[in-house]
Amino acid sequence: MNKKQAYKQLLDFAKQAAENSYSPYSKFKVGAAVLCEDNKVFCGTNVENASYGLSMCAERVAVFTAVANGCKKIKAVAIYSKKGDATPCGACRQVISEFSKTADIVYNTKGDSFKTVKISSLLPKSFDVKTLKK
Ligand code: THU
Repeated sequence: MNKKQAYKQLLDFAKQAAENSYSPYSKFKVGAAVLCEDNKVFCGTNVENASYGLSMCAERVAVFTAVANGCKKIKAVAIYSKKGDATPCGACRQVISEFSKTADIVYNTKGDSFKTVKISSLLPKSFDVKTLKK
């Protein structure tokens, strides 16, 4: 399987995950799928709350699930939304950056297509204590 096929498959996992979205307030279903270095895939969806600020994005649910299952190196994150063109919010960009500075972010566009962009171009100079001078 080449990269394009692998990313299409990852996006399909994200699309499936969006079916489980709990988003009665925004009615905006999002699904995410993380591809780890060992090629394992972990999914997430957005989970909202009556206390709106407690809502959690699909990407962070997926990344935290990957980490909780022992995967700390991320190769790619796919994001699916019905409307398309949804890229990770700022908070999710920082969380993804914690586990990879080179990850590919894959997201569906209008129609049945998708785009790929590097996390480093979505969040240049992410906060990272490892690179801070002593
Ligand atoms: N949301 C995500 O899950 N991921 C994104 O990249 C953008 C926004 C969720 C948060 C909230 O549940 C809903 O989409 C509307 O903002």
